[in-house]
Amino acid sequence: MNDQFILVLDEGTTSTRAMLFALDGKPSGTAQAELTQFYPQDGWVEHDAAEIWDKTLACAREMVERAGGAERIAAIGITNQRETVVAWDKQTGEPLARAIVWQDRRTAEFCARLKASGHEEAVRGKTGLLLDPYFSATKMRWMLDNVPHVQGAAERGTLAFGTVESWLVWCLSGGQQHVSDASNASRSLLLPLDGDTWDEDLCELFGVPLAALPQVVDCAGTIAETAPDFLGAVIPICGMAGDQQAATIGQGCLEPGATKATYGTGAFILASTGSTLPHSDNRLLGTVLTQINGERTYALEGSVFVAGSLVQYLRDTLGLIASAGETEELARSVADSGGVVVVPALSGLGAPHWRPDARGSITGLSFASSRAHVVRAALEAMAHQTRDLAAAFAADGARWRGIRIDGGMAANDWMAQDLADILQLPVTRPHFVETTALGAAILAALGCGAYSSLAEATAAMCGDAREFAPQMEAATRAVRLANWERALAKV
Ligand code: G3P
Repeated sequence: MNDQFILVLDEGTTSTRAMLFALDGKPSGTAQAELTQFYPQDGWVEHDAAEIWDKTLACAREMVERAGGAERIAAIGITNQRETVVAWDKQTGEPLARAIVWQDRRTAEFCARLKASGHEEAVRGKTGLLLDPYFSATKMRWMLDNVPHVQGAAERGTLAFGTVESWLVWCLSGGQQHVSDASNASRSLLLPLDGDTWDEDLCELFGVPLAALPQVVDCAGTIAETAPDFLGAVIPICGMAGDQQAATIGQGCLEPGATKATYGTGAFILASTGSTLPHSDNRLLGTVLTQINGERTYALEGSVFVAGSLVQYLRDTLGLIASAGETEELARSVADSGGVVVVPALSGLGAPHWRPDARGSITGLSFASSRAHVVRAALEAMAHQTRDLAAAFAADGARWRGIRIDGGMAANDWMAQDLADILQLPVTRPHFVETTALGAAILAALGCGAYSSLAEATAAMCGDAREFAPQMEAATRAVRLANWERALAKV
């Protein structure tokens, strides 16, 4: 098995990728394709599920070829943007509507109604989640209420709902498996944190038919097999987890209290709680971290909706920068943000505020404010959003001792240092920042029997890291914090 590879399919919000890993965790190839983002109305975000499948398959084929053929692939690991809902017909295998993406806010009113009727406490008690449009169940309900094809399939009993890993396994297995791993399923509002399967009362509350939901399965083991035609041979799918859970594994954050922050499209901070059920009094989320041999581990999570997508917005919509790489140089080119503060609430505010109605702002502009000041303020917002979460974790009794960062934005040294300064904590960044894909590779390596435990696989496959220590003067930090608080209060 030693000369074999793990093929990871990492299906993110803005792009889909296939990556090859050796069994010792060394990466040895990537293929990537951008995904079309559809914004049909204010607050709506959609994807084309057929495009996700086509592009994922094309990337996977490229990597299988790079590996020297399907025989060289020991197993597939899948990791994905979570909460995004795909609806398809089990008979035709065709998507019935555009996928509703996790960032989409269209069900804000439905969530507010459920909240006003007093359902939030019970839902939170069971699932660890809050009544926010972010999660899957209200998106499913919206499709049932508003898309005739989805309604029709539900009536005929051929409707399948799933998040993106579920859709990909369905496609890869040639329609043989309709499954969702427990880490993804725990983002639906329909799975109790300590329940084996979907909760009937929750399905009734949200109006989601049980029959349309996938089977909840482990994150490692033989989850499914690919149909032979797609990749040239039958390949087992042996690892599966939501991208933030996968990154937590890829960072080796298995011990209770170990905390990682991933700066991808959004920023997601997870602190492992081991086998203890997570509970928050400060509007953090409880989530399944892993399910292996039916046993679960958990994490406390803070979800920030806008991180890398802000840089993309500065580049593609405002035209302030030509490339994301430019932000570091621009941030360094000025001594401070000149009083400019960016609050990146472009799709509402997530944890710990949970304000779907909030919208972004740029404040403190003067004639002296330059492009560099605005870009620096945008990067500074990452540390401030993270610090707001640090306070919530501490109030929940889960004070961070340091954080391990990753994701595309974490490659920015200026931002890593700013995080250490604002958090006043050591920030550790692995040399290989694609920990999401690595986490899926670890699960698949465990699932195909290359390792005998998650701890063993993680120890063998995770690499070295660099540490950033806090340096900022207290007075400078205090001004930053006060400016942020003032700007945040206004959105
Ligand atoms: O919960 C949403 C999250 O899974 C999206 O991840 O990597 O696209 O920011 P990412």
